Amino acid sequence: MADGTLHVAVIMDGNGRWAGARGLPRSAGHEQAHLSVESTVTAALECGVTHLSLFAFSSENWNRPDEEVALLMQPGCWLLTDEELESYRQRNIQISFMGNLTDPRIPDACSDWLRTTAKRTASQHPRLRVTVAFNYGGRQEIAEAVRAHTASSEPGIQEDFRRHLWSSYLPDIDLLIRTSGEHRISNFMLWSLWYAELIFTDTLWPDFRGVHFSDAVAEYQKRNRRYGTVSS
Ligand code: IPE
Ligand code: IPE
Ligand code: MG
Repeated sequence: MADGTLHVAVIMDGNGRWAGARGLPRSAGHEQAHLSVESTVTAALECGVTHLSLFAFSSENWNRPDEEVALLMQPGCWLLTDEELESYRQRNIQISFMGNLTDPRIPDACSDWLRTTAKRTASQHPRLRVTVAFNYGGRQEIAEAVRAHTASSEPGIQEDFRRHLWSSYLPDIDLLIRTSGEHRISNFMLWSLWYAELIFTDTLWPDFRGVHFSDAVAEYQKRNRRYGTVSS
């Protein structure tokens, strides 16, 4: 954050359990998710967050039942609705997608939607840059960067390597929030998380709102980040 950026990442987890607790199908939990995204994005703007990264679909989520994967491949229904996108655009919030976006398993309609959404919200100087990690895996990102780096002629120093990461346009993560009481990283942004502060909350993602986000940022602001040095 020394350079004035504040990057918060969120592992949005617990949609299925939220639905299960109500006797509803898992899809009902996913269908609620966009309300939490909208509330979180609004809070992020209010908290002065410059970069918000949201984990929407992991490389391993393909292993879910076909019906569930098919729903998650329609992010315009459950993640970012059309009306919300328009309101993001009007508030100068840029949405980008990060992951293996050329994977042939992604239906054409979904790929088109990802492209159009990124184009529609593109901004030279966004107030907030939201990155949606979609068909994303941290190991896959690093493996792909190694491949690109090896193919280039640059010396093998970290900064040169970093340029090849999907997340190269993002500052390192300052704060990671994971909902639903799970205490793991689940192959999220392994490189960028290096000195991130971690906050785990039991709240399930469909119940998560801006107030939970603001509380997490307030807790983060009390933390003493040392990066391997001694306390100041
Ligand atoms: C997070 O909720 C959404 C995605 C991974 C797409 P889950 O669907 O993982 O919900 P739980 O963890 O089963 O409750
Ligand atoms: C992580 O949640 C991925 C996303 C939130 C998109 P999962 O529900 O897939 O993670 P695990 O399987 O519980 O670790
Ligand atoms: Mg889960």
